[in-house]
Amino acid sequence: MQPIRITEIPQHLGEEVLIQGWLYHKRSSGAIQFLLLRDGSGLMQAIVLKSNSAAFQVAEGLAQESSLRVWGQARADKRAPTGYELEISRFELVQLAHDYPIAPKEHGPGFLMDHRHLWIRSPKQAALLRVRHEVLQGMRDFFHQRGFIATESPILTPAAVEGTTTLFPVDYFGDQAYLSQSGQLYLEATAAALGLVYWIGPAFRAEQSKTRKHLTEFWMCEAEMAFYDHQMNMQLQEELVKYLLERLLKQRAAELETLERNTASLQKVLSEPFARITYAEALELLAEQGLPLEWGDDFGAPHEEVLGQHFQRPVFIEKMPAAMKAFYMEPDPQNPELVLAADLIAPEGYGELIGGSQRISDLEMLERKLQEFQLPREPYEWYLDLRRYGSVPHSGFGIGVERTVAWIAGAKHLRECIPFPRQLHRIYP
Ligand code: 4AD
Ligand code: MG
Repeated sequence: MQPIRITEIPQHLGEEVLIQGWLYHKRSSGAIQFLLLRDGSGLMQAIVLKSNSAAFQVAEGLAQESSLRVWGQARADKRAPTGYELEISRFELVQLAHDYPIAPKEHGPGFLMDHRHLWIRSPKQAALLRVRHEVLQGMRDFFHQRGFIATESPILTPAAVEGTTTLFPVDYFGDQAYLSQSGQLYLEATAAALGLVYWIGPAFRAEQSKTRKHLTEFWMCEAEMAFYDHQMNMQLQEELVKYLLERLLKQRAAELETLERNTASLQKVLSEPFARITYAEALELLAEQGLPLEWGDDFGAPHEEVLGQHFQRPVFIEKMPAAMKAFYMEPDPQNPELVLAADLIAPEGYGELIGGSQRISDLEMLERKLQEFQLPREPYEWYLDLRRYGSVPHSGFGIGVERTVAWIAGAKHLRECIPFPRQLHRIYP
């Protein structure tokens, strides 16, 4: 008999089916054993009647996370936790597990993080990983449907993209190299070759602070578009975020329910355009709300929370002072102290989802910026070439995968939005 997955049960009601998985939880009423099975796709209740004495005996001896194959008849049952139930006729024990360390009760975050390799089996953690999968697949489908070419950037790189303070150094056969902070510079080259490009890859930042919103290794989806200006860039970002949201609400409703996500606030985001304000307007708004910042200061978590709270939907913050952003950003023609960049801040305190900008296309200006930012010229020679040969206005952005997952799933901590998080002081398991 071909095994089916728990999510396929509704198509097999009344039939004898085979499910392969693990025991998540068990209770007994004396005459009936209630087993909660998981198979990676979801959870399902299975029952064993005392009258089936061989199976009943196996069930009695089972402990959490024992692996098994079960055969039985599937039926709808309103009393069962997921609405379906399997009456087991036969068992095959694959492995009897003993003393599984994570019982379905409260453990501290340190303990759970040390057991991350097992913790991911818990229903909420598994739901988060399925949400992550859907977000990543959504990103691929979105760009593929629009004719973008997926093209990869290297991880071992000779130069900084996003400032020199968070670089991870690597000894490259005696030369100094770094783990990539962003694939952007290489995407600018492939965009000049292919027009519209994107990639999804890891990014590394030696973040010295321990926050809920920072990992030292995270994943980013980056896009780069030849002949796109700042406005077109923001428009595309808004379409991407709305596409992802709509897709997740539809395809992963069960997971969002498991995660107890209030989806009304997400639905609301779909119904109206994102807010857009300038950096100067943001400072005014923050001062009114009792959180004054100096011109040129970056937002911290409290500021992002207030902005999210104020707009109740994602908000683009545009036109920041050039000095606080990266070297490659195109100055605002109306005020060259500012850059044509925008950060997209999520509502509900989930922080910055996207950083994007129009890129400098003029050779001399880019040369000047490298000097101003005190960056060595040599590792960027190839990047300057892009401005020598057929330079065009172009723009791009990077959206944080874990930040997007955290927002959509309602996860308070980024460490739960990636299978094996890397943080300051954490590289195990
Ligand atoms: O704003 P960032 O630094 O932008 C760039 O790296 C650009 N080069 C991207 C581009 O234009 N192609 O990072 C982009 C996004 C942030 O908005 C945030 O969502 C995420 O990446 N991010 C992090 N996520 C987790 N942990 C960290 N330490 C992160 N740093 C940035
Ligand atoms: Mg940023």
